[in-house]
Amino acid sequence: MNILGISAGFHDAAATVINSQGDILFAGHSERYSKRKNDADFGQGLLDEVVEYGPEIVAYYERPWNKQFRQWYAGQGIEWDKLTTQQILKKQLGGQIEPERIHSYNHHLSHAAGGFQTSPFERATVVVIDAIGEWDTISIWGAEYDHKGVARYTRLWRQVYPHSIGLFYSAVTSRIGLHPLDEEYITMGMAAWGRNTWYHDMREHVIADERDIQLRHNFHTGMGADFLVGASNENIAAAAQLVAEDLIRQVMIRARNMEFSTNLVYMGGVALNCTANRMLGEYFDKIWIMPCPGDAGSSLGAAALALGRRINWRNSYLGHCIPGVYPVNGLLDGLLTEQIVGVASGRAEFGPRALGNRSLLADPRGSKIKEKVNAIKRRQQFRPFAPVILEELADTYFDMPSGFKHSRYMQSVARCRVPELFPAIVHVDNTSRVQTVPLDGSGIRELLEKWYVMTGCPMLLNTSLNIRGEPIVNDRADADRFEQLYGVRVCS
Ligand SMILES: [Fe+2]
Repeated sequence: MNILGISAGFHDAAATVINSQGDILFAGHSERYSKRKNDADFGQGLLDEVVEYGPEIVAYYERPWNKQFRQWYAGQGIEWDKLTTQQILKKQLGGQIEPERIHSYNHHLSHAAGGFQTSPFERATVVVIDAIGEWDTISIWGAEYDHKGVARYTRLWRQVYPHSIGLFYSAVTSRIGLHPLDEEYITMGMAAWGRNTWYHDMREHVIADERDIQLRHNFHTGMGADFLVGASNENIAAAAQLVAEDLIRQVMIRARNMEFSTNLVYMGGVALNCTANRMLGEYFDKIWIMPCPGDAGSSLGAAALALGRRINWRNSYLGHCIPGVYPVNGLLDGLLTEQIVGVASGRAEFGPRALGNRSLLADPRGSKIKEKVNAIKRRQQFRPFAPVILEELADTYFDMPSGFKHSRYMQSVARCRVPELFPAIVHVDNTSRVQTVPLDGSGIRELLEKWYVMTGCPMLLNTSLNIRGEPIVNDRADADRFEQLYGVRVCS
C-alpha cells in the first residue's frame, strides 16, 4: 500500500511517495516541472510522476482550518476554498488520484517526522524553526520509537505567531530588496560582506525576551520602514544574521536543557541557515537535518506520519530520473579542457541543493573561475560557490565544525584551511559550504576520485544547474536549453 505525502497550496509544492516498507519511491518539487520558482501548486508534470505509483493513502502536511484561522487572525483574510484538506486535495490532484484514506497532520509535527523518521536515531530531541505554518513558529519535541517500532512524539515546548525567527529573517530579506520565502540564502551570503555596526540596534529592535524568543514586532508585516534608514544592505544582513543566531542559540540551549536526548534532529526552513548551523555541535553530540527541511520536505514528513515507522533513508536522489550511467569520462574531459561543465544524470535531488546530479561543476583552483561561473549563472558577484570533496580529505582542507564530521548535504559552513589555493569556493570570510562525498558508489564519488588522481585536487566547485530565474534543471530538455543559452556542455 503506497502513501502519497503532499505539501501544496501555499508555496513550494512537493510530493513524496513511500511504500509500506518505508522505502521512498519518489520525492520531488512541483517547480522543477512547471519552471515557476516556489510554485505553490501541483502541475501535471508532478502529478504524472506520482500517479503511476497508485497511492491508496494521501497525507497532507498541515491542518487547513487551523491555518485559515491564524491567517484570519493575522489579517490575511480567509481563503474559503482552502478550509478543508478535501477542498485542497480536490484542487491539487484534480481527481486524478482518489485515495481510500486521507490524513492531515499538524504543520510542525510533519516537519518533526520528516526529520526524525529519516534520521539514524532511536531517540532524539527534535527542534523545528520556520516562518509560520498554522500557529507554531518554533517547537521542541521528544521523539522515539516504541517497542513496536512506532514513532512517538511529545511536544516539549512551543512558541507561536507572531514571535517567529523565520518571519524576522524573511522581513530582512524583503527589506534589502530580495524575495522573501525564497532568497533568504542570499541574505545569509550577503551577511559575510557586512560589518557588525548595527548589531546592537538590531537586537534592540527585534528582541523583547531572548530566552523565550519573544519579539518586539510582528515581522510578518515587515521590518518597519524607518528602521536603519541609510544603512547598507550588507550591514543590515550582517546584523540580522547575528541576531538570528542569538535567537537560534537560545532555542538550542533550551532544547538541550530538556535532557531528552543528545541527538538533535533539526527541521524547518531556518535549518537551511548553514552559517548558523555551525553552532549546533556545541549543544548536541549527533545531528541530523533532513536535506529538504523546509515545507517541501513535509510531504515526506506527512507520509512518514501516515506510515508511523522508520523511513529507509539512503540519499536525496529521489526525483525525476534521467536514465543512463553517470557520465564520469565526459565530465572529466569537460573539466580538463574547458574547466566548467554541467551534469544532468540520474534522479534529481530532493531539496534546494544540487548535490552532483543536476550540477554545474568547475575546477576550484583558478583565480578567474568564480567570475566565469557567476557570468554563466548571471548572478551577483558577491555570492560564494560551494565545494564538493572526497569525504576522507575534508578535514585536511576544512575545519569541519563539531557535529559535522561529514556534511553530505551542504548543511554547515566550515573554515577553509588554505583559501588561497581555492579562491573559487571560498567566501569573503574564508568559509565554504562543504559537501562531503563518502565511499558510496555514486557517480560523483567516482568523478572526484579520478579527478584527484589526475590533478591532485580532491574537490570541485559545485553549484546548481539552472537557467537564471528558473528552478534547478529537471529533465534533459531543460539541460538542452541550458546548453543553448550558455554554451556550456551538459553531460547525461
Ligand atoms: Fe514550515
